[in-house]
Parts: sequence; C-alpha cells; structure tokens
Amino acid sequence: MSRKNIILAIETSCDETAVALIDENKKMLANIVASQIKIHQKFGGVVPEIASRHHLEQVNRLITLALEEANITLADLQAVAVTYGPGLVGALLVGVSTAKALAYSLNVPLIGINHIEGHVYANWIEHDDIEFPFVCLIVSGGHTTLVIMQGHGKYELLGRTQDDAVGEAYDKVARAMGLGYPGGPIIDKLAREGDPKAINFPRAWLGEDSYDFSFSGVKTSVLNYLNRASLKGEEIKKEDVAASFQASVVEVLVEKVIKAAKSRNMKTIALAGGVAANSALRETLQERCAKEGLRLIYPSLEYCTDNGAMIACASYFRYREGKRSDWHLNAVPNLKLV
Ligand code: KG4
Ligand code: ZN
Repeated sequence: MSRKNIILAIETSCDETAVALIDENKKMLANIVASQIKIHQKFGGVVPEIASRHHLEQVNRLITLALEEANITLADLQAVAVTYGPGLVGALLVGVSTAKALAYSLNVPLIGINHIEGHVYANWIEHDDIEFPFVCLIVSGGHTTLVIMQGHGKYELLGRTQDDAVGEAYDKVARAMGLGYPGGPIIDKLAREGDPKAINFPRAWLGEDSYDFSFSGVKTSVLNYLNRASLKGEEIKKEDVAASFQASVVEVLVEKVIKAAKSRNMKTIALAGGVAANSALRETLQERCAKEGLRLIYPSLEYCTDNGAMIACASYFRYREGKRSDWHLNAVPNLKLV
C-alpha cells in the first residue's frame, strides 16, 4: 500500500508536549496535548528543567497515541515538522532531537517551524478563506507583536512590546493576587464578575503613531495598588482589580489593532496566541470590527494556547512551498518572526 502523505508535527517549546497529524487535504487526523500545567502550578510558573524532563517522558507516548488515533503507521509519514524556537532551550531540544531521529530513520524531510508562526497558522486550521494582506495581533505568554501578513510566511512588523508580553503581565498580576498559574484564564473569568471602571489603571499609548506596546506600567500599577491596600489593611475586591486591569490591557490592544487596519486599508484582522483566548479581547474587538466593517478571525479556544495542530498547519503550508530543514537544525530559544 502506498504512503498516505501525512505530516507529523511535534511541539515542546514550553509546558505542553503536543503532537498532531495533518493529511494532504489539511485535515487534522490527530491533535494530542499533554499539559504540564498541574506540575508547574505549585512553583507558580514553568520550571525549565522539569519541563524538559516531562517532554522527554511524554513525547514518544504521544506520537504512538496520535498514530493509533489516526489509524496510520510511521510508514505513512511524508515529513516530520517540529517547533525549533522560540522557547525554553532544553524543552525545544527534546522536540528537535525526536523529530530529527524520526525523519532521519524514515528518510523523510524535516521541517523546522517557528512557534510564533504556528500561532498565526492556527487561524488556517478552521478557515480556508483568509485573504492577504491582513493585520495580525499575536498575543501570548512570551510575545506581543502586531504585524501585517502579506502572504504565506511574509510578515511586516508594525510594533511589538517594549517590555512584558501581555500574557506575562496577566500571569504576574494573577500571581500577586494569589490566583495561581497560568493567570490569564483565571483573571479572564474573575473579571466577568467585576467592574472594569472601578480602578483607573494606566494605558500605555507610547505616542500617537506608535504600534508598540508596554505592559510593565499597568502591571506595576496593579502591584502598587495591591501593596497599598495590604499596608492599610484594606480589603480589595479581586473581581474589580481583575476587570480594571483587563480593561486597560484590552483597550490598548483593540485601539492599536483597529488603527493599524484602518490606516493601512485592511479588511481583515486576525488574532493569534494564548491571550487570543481572552473573552474580553474577542468580544471588544468583535464589536469594534462590526462597527468598522472589518472581518475578525481567531482560532477556537483549543487552538489558541500551545498545541500541535498549529505547528502541523504551518508545516502543511511550508512543506508545499518546498521548505526543508537540514540535519543541523537546532533549538533557537530567541527565534524571531520578523
Ligand atoms: O500561546 P501560549 O499558550 O504560550 C506562549 O507561547 O507563550 O500563551 C500562554 C499565555 C499565558 O500567559 C496565559 O496566561 C495566557 O496565554 N492566556 C490568557 C488566556 N488564556 C491563556 N490570557 C488572558 N485570557 C485568557 N483567557
Ligand atoms: Zn505559544
């Protein structure tokens, strides 16, 4: 029987070990994520050494599970794709070494994928009708970047964060409030019960024409608010703090992305990355886009945070463009998108 032309994708850049299989029609045959969140929760954040160790323990098991789920064998693989950066070096190396060994032994191409590009391509998992160019806001635990995507693999940088990434600010604020890790989803939920106008946290616009971001100011402002309340022995309303912090962050993100779309005559805005799961960001941007006659697309929740399907989807397009990596492919912890 002939090979089925399936790409296996591996993602191990941070605290999720993930494997996915995609066929030649862009159909996702398997998408398995083994989250380490519970393991890292007691430390309040990801411990790199522990993350690498768990990837090592999980990765082969997940590959076997994915093949079983898709009812295929290794002989059906056309290529092996893997996230090679950005991320934690030890964690990335587990995926890269596994992918190299597999691709070499099967004599199929190896395709290195940029993790941030994977987040962007999560939009193609469920959409086939995305027209270039469009504005893309990439918001995750490690990145906050605004780009215009001109074509497959072609990015024009408009702005990026000068300090903390949005997800990082969410996680740090949640930690200071004793809410646990990761903070984004917890603050998102808590904020629904609070008043976004209760506390006026600062908005960092960074100049009228700037598409850059800064979230360390609002984060510090929340931390100062919490410290002051604690020194005075005052009770804080966590729901209001969460809602007011989120309102500050979302307002800046939404205004900048709308301004970029309007000034560059774009018809579509796409969201990508873990923070694209944020309900306030999705709803506020949706309302603004409806008013401005813009189309808004974002991945389903399961494809926003780290997963293998997004790497598989990016590799589907890269493979067709002829991208191949050689056996020197290495982990690049600070790999850039643009
Ligand atoms: O993309 P991702 O899974 O990993 C990175 O590449 O960084 O993003 C994880 C980040 C974390 O900071 C997490 O708190 C944040 O995304 N996040 C959220 C939500 N869900 C995840 N932030 C705000 N609201 C959410 N619903
Ligand atoms: Zn990510």
